[in-house]
Amino acid sequence: MSATKVPHLMTLADLSAKQIRNLLNHSHQIKAKTLPFLKPRGTTDPPVLEGRPTRYLVGKTVALLFSKRSTRTRLAAETAAHSLGGQAIFLGRDDIQLGVNESVRDSARVIGGMTQGIFARVGDHSEIEELAKYSPVPVINALSSYWHPTQVLADLLTLHEHAHEFESAEKVASAKKNSLPELRPLTIAYVGDPANVLHDMLVTYPRLGHQMRIASPPQYRAPDAVWDRVKELECDKSIMWSDDPREAVHGADVVITDTWISMGQEAQKEQRLKDFQGYQVTEALCREGGANPNWKFMHCLPRKEHEVDDEVFYGPRSLVFPEADNRMWTIMSLFETIYGRGTLDASEKVG
Ligand code: CP
Ligand code: NVA
Repeated sequence: MSATKVPHLMTLADLSAKQIRNLLNHSHQIKAKTLPFLKPRGTTDPPVLEGRPTRYLVGKTVALLFSKRSTRTRLAAETAAHSLGGQAIFLGRDDIQLGVNESVRDSARVIGGMTQGIFARVGDHSEIEELAKYSPVPVINALSSYWHPTQVLADLLTLHEHAHEFESAEKVASAKKNSLPELRPLTIAYVGDPANVLHDMLVTYPRLGHQMRIASPPQYRAPDAVWDRVKELECDKSIMWSDDPREAVHGADVVITDTWISMGQEAQKEQRLKDFQGYQVTEALCREGGANPNWKFMHCLPRKEHEVDDEVFYGPRSLVFPEADNRMWTIMSLFETIYGRGTLDASEKVG
């Protein structure tokens, strides 16, 4: 680890476009090398140990500090740490002293004294900022009120892996073998509640050459602290924001949504269900709005039917399950880079 600066990751806005690309390439390499190892080869075959990737976490422990529920992020983190040769210890809200008998400052120092990394899912974003301020080991944001960086890395890996869906046959045929497929500039529509997952898209997709078109009810917009980061990175020039879902999906190659009721907003359920009427992602909406006829659908999950109907969610346009699988490969890349190597710069090679 750097002697001067602990490499925390609060949002993808903390990384340059090059660092994000390197992490994606690295995820792709890890996946290519590890996936055959994880697949059963038949009961009599010996395991293909030589296919195993780097073991950067051997002897290392990652603390998973989760004050909210999780299926994908927790599972991805535990399997990633294990696959890299280390271990993850899950510390749920009711397991530890944090927030009840002990301050964030003291907890950060103690947890950081016994582990090599903290992966934290918190309520208010200020909680993870404080954790990072006092932690002697790198803190990665596993979701906060403002950001969800690991989700957007998985989304990007999924889009790159499906680059052929957006390209001509000649382009696909000329693609370099064994490297992460290049993605042409896309029009990415987001319809629904502008929350943490969208915020990380806002500071990332425009820097990678993509346009964003968003629709949300007028009273739902990004908080100033998020929009300041968007402007700082000059991403706002590539973002169109409207109240009209049809306008947002116009020309869209990809349509994305998230839950209308994020964790912690349960008391607002009734109001939110009213406010988001008309924002459900459906075939009819995208046809009427003039989306690219070959548009694809993404969702971070968990999903409710009012956000997207079954026809789209379970249909051939949907990338939601490859997207969920990619949580693990991208978190492996991050854990190896940040907790294993102690930097934010993913190396180009799986060593
Ligand atoms: N997408 C996502 O973060 O899911 P979990 O809440 O299950 O981790
Ligand atoms: N916006 C959602 C994302 C869940 C992965 C939430 O914060 O609950």
